[in-house]
Amino acid sequence: MTMPTPQCPWRMQVHHIHQETPDVWTLSLLCHDYYPYRPGQHALVSVGNSADTLRAYTLSSTPGVSEYITLTVRRIDDGTGSQWLTRDVKRGDYIWLSDAMGEFTCDNEPNDRFLLLAAGCGVTPIMSMRRWLAKYRPQADVQVIFNIRSPQDVIFADEWRNYPVTLVAENNATHGFVSGRLSRELLQSVPDIASRTVMTCGPAPYMEMVEKEVKALGVTRFFKEKFFTPVADAVNSGLKFTKLQPAQEFYGPVGTTLLEAMESNKVPVQAACRAGVCGCCKTKVVSGDYTVTSTMTLSEQEIADGYVLACSCHPQGDLVLA
Ligand code: FES
Repeated sequence: MTMPTPQCPWRMQVHHIHQETPDVWTLSLLCHDYYPYRPGQHALVSVGNSADTLRAYTLSSTPGVSEYITLTVRRIDDGTGSQWLTRDVKRGDYIWLSDAMGEFTCDNEPNDRFLLLAAGCGVTPIMSMRRWLAKYRPQADVQVIFNIRSPQDVIFADEWRNYPVTLVAENNATHGFVSGRLSRELLQSVPDIASRTVMTCGPAPYMEMVEKEVKALGVTRFFKEKFFTPVADAVNSGLKFTKLQPAQEFYGPVGTTLLEAMESNKVPVQAACRAGVCGCCKTKVVSGDYTVTSTMTLSEQEIADGYVLACSCHPQGDLVLA
């Protein structure tokens, strides 16, 4: 079986699949070579083992601790990647992953006091780091607050019995759950919160709320997983984008990336890594000023022809797109 794309050179075999909750599955993968990664990182998966559909998923396993490389995936109705991974892929199948990527990790954090905050499927890098801290920093003081919709949605339910965790359920909270959502009161009840390194992962509005609240409580070391990029609302002024085919005009605020402007205006574009690595978001600019922070997957000819990676393209004025 040949590699679908040089961006996903790691072939892994599905050893088993475990259903975590009604809509989340964990795929345990065997990699026959040593696969280097850090706790909390993610990788691109070649969806359908094809070259042109890459999606990013957190590696929910923990280096040096987990027996398998694992991906924990929520099935989303119109999610090409999640439908494939949770419905079509079977035990024994091979799938292809990229190198591990991302800076959301605890392994270089000097502080030994942590507050890990997760919501929904955002718990995947949090669990990866929680296991790592237990093994490699057993002296660390680690508090975890995990928000879910209802008690049946606790991902890694059995494993959480090994670690102190506060489970917060929005609906139907039963014994062992705090009822409601993450609140300032709950955060204030964490001992010495200001001295902790806070790491959070979840939907964008949740992470925004966390950031605001913990900074108000004096936290200075704050990290969030940028992988869940919010899609901003479309705007009617600012930089003007003219798309030639199909003809369309739209706007984005000064300071936006081309990818953000396209996504917020529902202009079709693929994105996986959002960091100029995977090449998914290749877009042709016909005219206008811009700067780029990555051209990693583009050939010299493509750059000369005006191709950019939309996630790494920072418009400096109005742009015309092919
Ligand atoms: S989304 Fe991967 S390079 Fe832009």
